[in-house]
Amino acid sequence: MDLGRGWTRVVVEVGPGEAELVADVLWQFAPAAIEEQDTADTTVLLAGFDDPAQAAAAATAAQALSVRNVQLVPVTDDGLDGWRAWAAVERAAPFVIVPPWLHPPAMVPGEHLLWMDPAHTFGSGSHPTTRLVLGRLVSLITSTTTVLDVGCGSGVLAIGAALLGAARVDGIDVDPESPSATKANAQRNGVGASVHASTASLASVAEAGATYDLVLANLLAPVIVELAADLASVVAPTGMLVVSGLLSDQWEQATGALTGLTVADVALSDGWAAISLRPPPAHERPNS
Ligand SMILES: C[S@@+](CC[C@H](N)C(=O)[O-])C[C@H]1O[C@@H](n2cnc3c(N)ncnc32)[C@H](O)[C@@H]1O
Repeated sequence: MDLGRGWTRVVVEVGPGEAELVADVLWQFAPAAIEEQDTADTTVLLAGFDDPAQAAAAATAAQALSVRNVQLVPVTDDGLDGWRAWAAVERAAPFVIVPPWLHPPAMVPGEHLLWMDPAHTFGSGSHPTTRLVLGRLVSLITSTTTVLDVGCGSGVLAIGAALLGAARVDGIDVDPESPSATKANAQRNGVGASVHASTASLASVAEAGATYDLVLANLLAPVIVELAADLASVVAPTGMLVVSGLLSDQWEQATGALTGLTVADVALSDGWAAISLRPPPAHERPNS
């Protein structure tokens, strides 16, 4: 078979108890990921390779282990699920973000394991704008913190907040697939009780008069500008707003729309910026 260029999947069917050994052998050929699918009496390992020669070598090595069946399959990327073949563990301190079909790596003290299947939503944890916000969470969350994640996507930020002990996290997103992805990921991480997700609009949250100790918004700059008034209004008087998704040389234009809030922290990475802003102290507020 001419596998040509592009991704190749090695599909290996193994018997009970053999998956770990075979996966260890496949890992020696540097796949981007190995997915494990279990049925009653068999396990199928799907290893994604960007190098067809490595895939062929891995298949040969698996065959030598007398497994039940080995196939080499070129990956057809339908634009929706092809990413799964090369999904990888992401370290976004203090989180280690692991797709559920991969084995978690060795963890060091202080790291938090975060299982994440974004399905068709945004938020694998690999994008700098997500990572910048994840990095800010530790210093902003206590056991009483309430969090609103505007544009929660896969729920990665909401779940990160919950894993750090936030009292309650509400995620909202215009993407109709986001609430189910967020809820599934929250349950996967054991924080289903504290993470809630819906397609409620930010305007409706603001109109209801709800405020949060921490508001997260990893959105594009024009969306942040459009939502600025409502973003500012849902931040509790002693709370914090973290906006991300801004280019590092343009963040001041976007945050300028967040009138009434002052910049408390600027975090930069790979040309992106995440800005933390807080309401003014009580004595500086109008009518105080
Ligand atoms: C860059 S992704 C961030 C996903 C995730 N929070 C993360 O940090 O990886 C932006 C998300 O915002 C959502 N979004 C865009 N406009 C929105 C709006 N007006 N209100 C709520 N969500 C919005 C998108 O559907 C998308 O899921």
